Amino acid sequence: MSKIQKTMILDGRKTAEKIRGALAEKIRKHGKKPKLRVILVGEDAASLAYVTRKEKACAEVGIEYECLRFPKEVQEEDILRAIAETNDDRNVHGLIVQLPLPPHIDKRNVVAAINEMKDVDGFTQWNAGKCFLGKTDGLLPCTPKGVMRLLSEYGIGVTGKDVTVIGYGDIVGKPLCLMLSSAGATVTACHSKTRDLKSHTQNADIVVSAAGVANLLTADMVHPWSVVIDVGINRVDGKLRGDADFEAISRIADISPVPGGVGPMTVAMLLENTYEAFLRLESEA
Ligand code: GUN
Repeated sequence: MSKIQKTMILDGRKTAEKIRGALAEKIRKHGKKPKLRVILVGEDAASLAYVTRKEKACAEVGIEYECLRFPKEVQEEDILRAIAETNDDRNVHGLIVQLPLPPHIDKRNVVAAINEMKDVDGFTQWNAGKCFLGKTDGLLPCTPKGVMRLLSEYGIGVTGKDVTVIGYGDIVGKPLCLMLSSAGATVTACHSKTRDLKSHTQNADIVVSAAGVANLLTADMVHPWSVVIDVGINRVDGKLRGDADFEAISRIADISPVPGGVGPMTVAMLLENTYEAFLRLESEA
């Protein structure tokens, strides 16, 4: 009699906890603490929640954390000055400017001002170029890096696999497509203009959804025993939900939940990037 196999939940909370534990040990052994600085503009509730999570995670692994807060009326030049000061500060190893920024501030100018060695979000053109080239000496953006790590921690290889990515934004979809291609996957990039989404998801070995549309991915759209990574963050009736119909899909396929999937992995990758930046800056000093 054949054994009935169960589908797997890819637990990002547990995986991130393991990563933080290993990182805390490395930092403890090193002796000196890396430092992350966050620039936060305005009072956006989601941004406040995100930076609080980052602060707590830093404390857990022994990374020093500092948040520079500015009112939403702040001028772009004041933000650029704070970035320039951080670039020159040898005691700060990682810098992120929490997004979104108010409309009068040009995000591109702000990101471009960050020293690429301290760009632990991996958003600068220099680091985007490293990602494009498949080089390992840049800093990779945290969410796609977290997706790749979650897959590898669960022993799910991507080489030779058909992977469909839904969403082609600069922060998640686009860099993830590059990382998957560099790792040998056959990648299909879907987005809001894709005509027949199901035709691209139903035969894929792995589907990653980063569209930000609740219930976009339903059970009839995925292959039994495939793997679904849900990067969506949506509010439905006050509850946090991903892009996938978790209840139905988890009965037939392996899936990462929301919350507790990619979110904690993103924060863990920010910590790893900060440690990586710290080591590189220290070796140059
Ligand atoms: N806002 C939402 N996600 C992110 C992120 O990963 N980095 C920054 N800086 N801002 C964000």
